[in-house]
Parts: sequence; C-alpha cells; structure tokens
Amino acid sequence: MVSKPTRDDKFSFGLWTVGWEARDQFGDATRPHLDPIEASRKLADLGAYGVTFHDDDLVPFGSSDTERERIIGDFKKMLDETGLVVPMVTTNTFSHPIFKDGAFTSNDRQVRRYGLRKVIRQVDLAAELGANVFVMWGGREGAEYDGSKDINAALDRYAEGIDTVAAYIKDKGYDLRIAIEPKPNEPRGDILLPTVGHALGFIAKLENGDIVGLNPETGHEQMAGLNYTSGIAQALWQEKLFHIDLNGQRSIKYDQDLVFGHGDLLSAFFTVDLVENGFPNGGPKYDGPRHFDYKPSRTEGVDGVWESAEANMATYLLLKERAVAYRADPEVQAAWEASGIRELAQPTLGEGETLDDLLADLSVFEDADADALGERHYAFVKLNQLAVEHALGAR
Ligand code: GCO
Ligand code: MN
Ligand code: MN
Repeated sequence: MVSKPTRDDKFSFGLWTVGWEARDQFGDATRPHLDPIEASRKLADLGAYGVTFHDDDLVPFGSSDTERERIIGDFKKMLDETGLVVPMVTTNTFSHPIFKDGAFTSNDRQVRRYGLRKVIRQVDLAAELGANVFVMWGGREGAEYDGSKDINAALDRYAEGIDTVAAYIKDKGYDLRIAIEPKPNEPRGDILLPTVGHALGFIAKLENGDIVGLNPETGHEQMAGLNYTSGIAQALWQEKLFHIDLNGQRSIKYDQDLVFGHGDLLSAFFTVDLVENGFPNGGPKYDGPRHFDYKPSRTEGVDGVWESAEANMATYLLLKERAVAYRADPEVQAAWEASGIRELAQPTLGEGETLDDLLADLSVFEDADADALGERHYAFVKLNQLAVEHALGAR
C-alpha cells in the first residue's frame, strides 16, 4: 500500500517541472502550456506543501511592471487559498540569448551586470514570499572550448556575483540563504562548479560564504559518475546542505530528470535513509523540503504529468517506510556491530591521549600484528543484502 502524501512530508515541486512542455533539442512541445497558478493548485491537491519557481516560470520574460504585479498578486492569492508555501525561489539566467555565454561569468561585462540585476529583483521577491533558500544553478556558466574562458577570471567573477548577492541579502536582513546547484555539463560543454566537491571548495573562498551552501541534484552528481548520497552526506558534514533536488538518472548520459527512484533505486533508498534517519552515529541532519526537480517524460500527456508528480512522492514514501524498517531491524543493528559502523564514531586517539602517547604505545605499531588485523572480516556484503531485502519489502 502506498500512503498518501501530507503537508508534513514537506514535498515541493518546481513550477518548471510539471510545467515543462517537453520541447527538446530534437522535437517540439508535446504538451500544452499549463497555467502556473492552476498547476500549483493541482500540486496542493496531490499533497505537496510547497512550490518553487524561476522568475520567468511565473512572470514571462519581458512582462511590464504592471503585468508582473498582477501575476504576483494572483499567485499570492492562490498561496493563501491553498496554504502552499514557497520554500525556495531561483532565477532563470539561462534561457534568453543574452545569457548564451553565462550570466555572472559571461565574457561580456554588460551581460554580467544585467544578470546581477535580474537576480537581485528575484531575491526581493523570494523574501517577499517568505522563501528561505535562493537557488543558483549556473547552467550557462561555462564553456565548450578550453581557450574561450579564462577560468581564473571566471571564478573571480562568479565569486564576485555571489558575494554581492549575499551581501545584499545581509544588508536587507532577509532570512535567506543561497544554495549553489552543481552540474557537470548541459547545456554548456563544461559547467563551472561541476560537482558538490567543486562547489564546496569554491564556497570556502567567498567573503559571505557563511550564507552560501548547496542544492545538490541526484542526477547531476550521477551524470559525473558520482554517488549522490555520499555527496549530500559531505555537504551535511560541512553544514552546507541547504536544499536538495531529487530525481532519477540512469548512468552517465544527458540529464534525464526522471522521477525520483526511476534511476538508481538502491541509491535512492540510501538517499531517503540518510535524509529521514540521519547518519548512523548521529550528526547534522537535513530538515528542509523534499524538493522534486524532475521532468515528466516527453511521451506523457497531461495525465502523465500528474501521474509522474504523484510517482515521485509515492516512491519517496515507500522508500521512507523501508528505510525506517531497515534501521529498526535487530539483524541490521547486529550487522552494524559486526561491520564496525558504531566503532567508526570512536575517536582514533583516546580521551586526553596525545600523539606522543600513541608513539610511546608499542602495541599500536611495533608490537602490532598487522596480519591478524588484516584478517578482520567486515561483512559489508551481508549488511548490503539486508538493505536490498528491506528495499524490496522482503523483510
Ligand atoms: C537541471 C537543473 C535545473 C535547475 C533549476 C534551478 O535539470 O539542469 O536541475 O532544473 O535545478 O533550473 O535553477
Ligand atoms: Mn537536472
Ligand atoms: Mn535542479
């Protein structure tokens, strides 16, 4: 039985997800335009608690100020009526031709100034709507040719742009944090800040990095052949996991944005296990929205849009049920002991022990039996099989 999502599950969707008309590089739209306000109502009916959007998803690019005001007014009315919240907001700095070489890192300074201005306008709207995360996905910040971008200068400009926005957020006193979304490629041949690791390294160099963190997307890490769950785990450890984009991807290829769990299902199980149950030995825990950034496949009609939206939530809830059962299983607990999962939480040096003490302790090295220690059996396969059996509902 699949349980029905409720607001407490904190599921949110981007308006650009269900609203995607399925136009791709090789073909025209296969679905009609969905009114963003109507689409939001439908998401609320299905059990979502929040909607997120790029400026242009709600207010078409180039709308007049009066038109913009009217649309935002109607949107707020819908929020009041449905009880939906807007936990995150983002800016489209990739669709219009002006951004063909990027926004914050375009070689053209006027474009960079325009991009910054567009982002700032959306920051104000984010604060007005009560969002506390501002996502920055720099899809066009990159290059096709190594000789066409001075990476040193581009990273300086990227840092300048993000620091300027962060300083603005602080000056205004907005309760808002920036979340960078890494992606290795597509639409650019190579995108700056391609992975969680690159982005974490970049944030450490920012002046206002205290309010800058990450929004890792499942498929984006997997497009780089990386492990999403361990990526968000490190972001959590560094207290930088501000938001997550959940979806599915089947191996290293174009960005598929499949339904969550429709890519690597076992990896999705461990993602949910980490998000819901936290680290085995405690530590920082994610409590933000469970945000789906997927695209209903191009083969689907409007019914398929809503079926796929529901599929994200249903799969998540099923995996959550399985992950809770996995943690509660005494056999899993015993397997954890055998595998040393608990032991890893013990500091390597004893309380008050110095390196000198360790050097003086001959049992550590000189008298240690390395061969005997090398014989330890960790039984990770048995532990993983327990996870598989739980994930499949066999336990
Ligand atoms: C992608 C990205 C985008 C961003 C979104 C936020 O699939 O390449 O996920 O969808 O998340 O545009 O800016
Ligand atoms: Mn994607
Ligand atoms: Mn995303």
